[in-house]
Amino acid sequence: MLVLPERYYKIMVNPEQYVSLDNMSKRNVSHIINEFAKDLKNISGKCMDVGCGPGDITRDILLSALNSKATMIGTDIMENMIEYANKTYGDKERLEFEVLDIQTKNLPEKYISEFDHIFSFHALQWCSDIRQTFENIYCMLRPGKTMLILSVAQYAAFFESLESMAQDIRYASYMGDKKKYVGPFHYSARPREDLKELLEDIGFQVHHCSHREISNCMSTEKFMSFVTAQYTFAFLDKMPHNLREEFKNEFTRMYTEINVKEYRDRQGYSKLHDEEKETDISSAFFILVAYAQKNVS
Ligand SMILES: C[S@@+](CC[C@H](N)C(=O)[O-])C[C@H]1O[C@@H](n2cnc3c(N)ncnc32)[C@H](O)[C@@H]1O
Repeated sequence: MLVLPERYYKIMVNPEQYVSLDNMSKRNVSHIINEFAKDLKNISGKCMDVGCGPGDITRDILLSALNSKATMIGTDIMENMIEYANKTYGDKERLEFEVLDIQTKNLPEKYISEFDHIFSFHALQWCSDIRQTFENIYCMLRPGKTMLILSVAQYAAFFESLESMAQDIRYASYMGDKKKYVGPFHYSARPREDLKELLEDIGFQVHHCSHREISNCMSTEKFMSFVTAQYTFAFLDKMPHNLREEFKNEFTRMYTEINVKEYRDRQGYSKLHDEEKETDISSAFFILVAYAQKNVS
């Protein structure tokens, strides 16, 4: 059985560690921002980054892609991320951070029809109530204003191993509803069409909606550190030490098993090459990217 050294799991929900490991996110965000650079550079006024995490991407990539008159509020469900982001990247003039659960059914009054643009990167896959999530984004935009989002759509090794863990009697009471651990489009046969239809149904005019394959080149060890530093894994804190270790090893084993199987299928051969370690091979997942506008009326 594959057992990771304990140090790889010591960073749960830790913003500093998250920043040091998030190169893959930075690369994905930069790529999309470059693609939409022309539209973004004319945006001024008040903007929001939903699920901003520690705030480095919000300041260094998103805010700097906008017109210099734009201001930004980074929002996240995790209080410690927001505290860290305000301390490290907040500047009172153009950038501040606030706690917000984007799935809330009671959107604070102060956010309604306030924003000229809303971003969200690598966060909406954790919103099982995806309609409420996009309705809230729609509500926060001023008429005619836009959103640019990137969400993980399908990631079999990750979502399906987590979903199995949530059904395992040893972990179920800590993890709660298994739906929380699988992106809302993971089992969709037409994720691009489903997202587009949902957005149009809410009232958005969809200018761009695409489904793309991405490669994750992080080793399994690094990836496990990266993902378990996030809100979704906060349940680990409630587990007794032994159970937590057991969970981590089992999750890593299942993730690796699915990843290796998919890798072999992609490469078209049944064995890994001698020099390839199971935990070093890349994994593939799919993302959804959408650029949409709130109706003017
Ligand atoms: C993978 S991080 C993404 C951080 C950054 N946007 C990036 O692209 O690297 C996902 C973030 O979404 C936040 N998140 C998860 N569920 C959320 C919710 N319901 N409302 C707001 N933020 C949420 C998590 O706390 C986490 O900081």
